[in-house]
Amino acid sequence: MNDKLVVFPGSFDPVTQGHVDLIKRGAALFGSLTVAVLVNNQKNALFTPAERVELLRKALADVSGVTVEQFDGLLADFLKARGARVVLRGVRAAADLEAENRNHWYNSRLLPGLETVYLPAGEEYAYVSSSSVKELYAHGGHLPGLLPEPVAEKLKEKFSK
Ligand code: PNS
Repeated sequence: MNDKLVVFPGSFDPVTQGHVDLIKRGAALFGSLTVAVLVNNQKNALFTPAERVELLRKALADVSGVTVEQFDGLLADFLKARGARVVLRGVRAAADLEAENRNHWYNSRLLPGLETVYLPAGEEYAYVSSSSVKELYAHGGHLPGLLPEPVAEKLKEKFSK
């Protein structure tokens, strides 16, 4: 087991400033962090996996110690393949905690010894989610500070077509 390998998984459709804040804090706390992008998300993704990875790499270009990878299927299998057992997730409100506890329940049965570490979302990002931001941009609302600049540009481009 490689306890130094901490994995921050997600759909990142697209990455928000809330994610960037958590990734920076996670990398500072643990020294390094692997961001794992779920490819086969059941949710109808707006961005392709390649676009999501590219936007993450751009958004995190100035953050050291962070690598971005993709995974398909179960998170526990990705961790097993890497010899990792530590997952980092951000939590906004109580509903997030409920969902994260449920995922942990499954993940830790699939991979005994797996631990999930929660960080509270940055206060200024308490209501920032990829889905809300997509809805906002779909209808021409462009609030500042929610998205890394390349993501905001790409979203505007998607919805101008
Ligand atoms: O950004 P999200 O959508 O909140 O991320 C959720 C994610 C990708 C971390 C979670 O859905 C996940 O790990 N999916 C992979 C399938 C899996 O292992 N599910 C948990 C046990 S059933």
